[in-house]
Amino acid sequence: MFDVHQIRQDFPILHQTVNGKPLVFLDSAASSQKPLAVIETIDTYYRQYNANVHRGIYQISEKASAAYEQARKKIGRFINARSWREVIYTRNATESINLVAYSWGLSRLKPGDVILSTEMEHHANIVPWQQVAARTGAQVRYIPVDEQGYLDMAAFEAMLTPQVRLVAVTHMSNVLGTINPVEEIISKAHQAGAKVLLDAAQSAPHMPIDVQALDCDFLAFSGHKMLGPTGIGILWARREILEAMPPFMTGGDMISQVTFSGSTWNELPWKFEAGTPAIAQAIGLGAAVDYLVRLGMDNVRQHEIELTAYALDRLNQVEGLRIYGPQNPQHRGGAVAFTLGSIHPHDVAAVLDGEGIAVRAGHHCAMPLHDKLGLVATTRASFYIYNLPEEIDRLAEGLDKARELLG
Ligand SMILES: Cc1ncc(COP(=O)(O)O)c(C=O)c1O
Repeated sequence: MFDVHQIRQDFPILHQTVNGKPLVFLDSAASSQKPLAVIETIDTYYRQYNANVHRGIYQISEKASAAYEQARKKIGRFINARSWREVIYTRNATESINLVAYSWGLSRLKPGDVILSTEMEHHANIVPWQQVAARTGAQVRYIPVDEQGYLDMAAFEAMLTPQVRLVAVTHMSNVLGTINPVEEIISKAHQAGAKVLLDAAQSAPHMPIDVQALDCDFLAFSGHKMLGPTGIGILWARREILEAMPPFMTGGDMISQVTFSGSTWNELPWKFEAGTPAIAQAIGLGAAVDYLVRLGMDNVRQHEIELTAYALDRLNQVEGLRIYGPQNPQHRGGAVAFTLGSIHPHDVAAVLDGEGIAVRAGHHCAMPLHDKLGLVATTRASFYIYNLPEEIDRLAEGLDKARELLG
């Protein structure tokens, strides 16, 4: 049973007033709230077994190492990785993508090669490719987005030339909400000899992910958007690809042997984890994954479809409001970006804040997409497991108020 009222009991932060009104938190696409199970897991780590991992021959360090590696196994099962050795801890999705860009990209790309990205990417899946392209002589090209917020798949096929080495695409847009047809993209890219990186920052928290069924090559996501703490993210990649990649960062923990003349590398996954890692955060992310698995990711997705359907319906009734992205809730996630007439999105968000409603306004780290839409900014409401239809009613009422005040 997916009981949102029950779920809300696990999130202490939701039970407060802001500007005298009960907080309505609609910014989970930026960062989700954390359940008690995660908060308490981190608290217990620091109170009872805080110690560095992989080094100490003493009990609490062994306990910390076991919990840190146990969390990795849980995360591997969560995305159906073949092996826990394919699960690399990073700081966030951004670092995961940079790892692929600087390790795989710098060592593999050459002049004339093409990286295909899309017009709907977050800066995290654009800027590292631009940087690596500038250093290697490769080019970045962007698959266009159509009027309804879908990728232009005919254009994708036309752009998929033999020069394409990598398709770096978001699984779910953080602005349009669009869930891209990644199975089709992966299969066509592979036929053309290209690898595929999926930016799962918005999808991993909200829908079941199976890297074996998807058959992608790289998958990047952040812990903090899926009930976990900040400072921990994941790069998953196929083992044979990781084995062949040079390290991204070097130093302690990632080595096997070091002499004054050179070094050899540790086994996977530690080859990519230089220095003392984010131990509490990794263990906290393990607790977040346990929580999501208990809810069931199919149920998480179903709740989001229902809430998004309600939001599209309710918000479309607000005079002057325009939603960007697919209108079919089955084709999208629960990040809903909109404009309200010609009122500046920051002003809309400020009025909503006065009503205790937290939304985000700006370009949401997708400036090229906003350029394409002819906008400088949008306001974005985004939903998660703890949101209720009543909160969408509050949002709609707040938007009516913003229009009355500023329209
Ligand atoms: C689609 C997408 N990709 C990447 C990121 C980057 O995530 P992080 O800032 O946690 O690295 C975000 C964050 O908003 C995102 O929405």
